[in-house]
Amino acid sequence: MIILGIESSCDDTAAAIVADGKVLSNCIAGQEIHRLYGGVVPEVASRAHQVHIVPVVNEALKQAGVLRSEIGAVAFTRGPGLIGSLIVGVSFAKGLAMSLDIPLIEVHHLQAHVMAHFAGERQPPFPFLCLIVSGGHTQIMLVRSPFDMEIIGQTIDDAAGEAFDKTGKLLGLDYPAGPVIDRLAKEGKPVFDFPEPHISGLDFSFSGLKTSILYFLRKEIERDPAFIQNRLPDICASVQTRIVSILMNKLKKAVQQTGIRHVALAGGVSANSGLREALLNTASKLGWEAYIPKFEYCTDNAAMIAIAGYYKYLDGDFCDHSVTPVARWAM
Ligand code: KG4
Ligand code: ZN
Repeated sequence: MIILGIESSCDDTAAAIVADGKVLSNCIAGQEIHRLYGGVVPEVASRAHQVHIVPVVNEALKQAGVLRSEIGAVAFTRGPGLIGSLIVGVSFAKGLAMSLDIPLIEVHHLQAHVMAHFAGERQPPFPFLCLIVSGGHTQIMLVRSPFDMEIIGQTIDDAAGEAFDKTGKLLGLDYPAGPVIDRLAKEGKPVFDFPEPHISGLDFSFSGLKTSILYFLRKEIERDPAFIQNRLPDICASVQTRIVSILMNKLKKAVQQTGIRHVALAGGVSANSGLREALLNTASKLGWEAYIPKFEYCTDNAAMIAIAGYYKYLDGDFCDHSVTPVARWAM
C-alpha cells in the first residue's frame, strides 16, 4: 500500500511517500521569506504553499521511484494550523484523491508528530509519553495506541519554541532563534538565574520567562549599554537552561504520575542539544528509555502524516470529500 502524505499546516510545504509503513521519500519546501518578518505571515505562507505544492509532490514521487497511478491513498493534515495554509494541502489532496479515485485520509497534526516515532527503526512500545515541543506546540501526550492519545499537560500561553524565538527577538537574533541560541549557549555558562514558573499539574507556562528576560535585559543595559554584545553566550546558556529545566521537571512529574518510563521527544525544539542531553542524562539516571527521532522527522514533515495515514488506512478510517480544514482541533 503506497500512501502519499501532505503537510501544509504552517510555513513548510511537505510531501512524502510511505509504502507498507516504510518511508521511501520525505520532501520539504521551506519558506525563507518569513525570516524577513521575524515570524510566519499567514497570507504569505498560503500563497507560497500554492507555488510549492505541485513541485514538492512530484519530487516526493520521483525520489521514491513511484508513479502517480501507483498511489493507493492520500493522507493530509486537516489541522490544527493556519487555515489559509491548510486549505492548500486539503484542496490538493481532495483533487488528487478524486482524480485517482482513491481513499482520502485526514490526519491530526499532533497525532502525526507522535506517529513520527514509527517512521524509523527504534519504535517505542505502547503506552509511552511523548513531549511535543515546537514553535506552535508544547504538550505531553500519553500515547496508548496509534489512535488513543491523551494530552496530559500543555502550555497555557507560549510554546517552548516561541520562548526561544521571542527571546531571540529581544536579543536581536535572526528568526527562528532556537538554533542560534542553541549554538551560542555552547560557548557560554548559565550564570544568570531566571525564575521557574509555578504552574500546577503538568501544564507549562513560558510568558513569565519572556517578561523576566525583558526586565533583566533592561536593567543590565542601563548599567552597560553593550551588555547583550558582551554577554550573549552566557545569556543564551541561561535562557536555554531554564527552558530545558521547565520541560524536564514536568516530564519527570508525568513519569511519576503515570508510571510510564518510555519517553519520546517530538517537534522542532527536540533538535535542541541542551534538551537532548537533559533527556538522555535523566533517562540513564532514572531508568527511562528515551526515544529521539531523526531531526527530519522531528520538525514539520510529511513522512509523519503518511505514517499516521498508513495506520488509519489499516483501520479503514477514511474521510469523504466534504472534509474541510480546521484551525483548532481537539485530540
Ligand atoms: O516543528 P517546527 O519545525 O515547526 C513548528 O513550529 O511546528 O519547530 C520550529 C521551532 C522554532 O520555534 C525554532 O526556533 C525551534 O523549533 N528550534 C529550536 C532548535 N531548532 C529549531 N529551538 C531550540 N533549539 C534548537 N536547536
Ligand atoms: Zn508541528
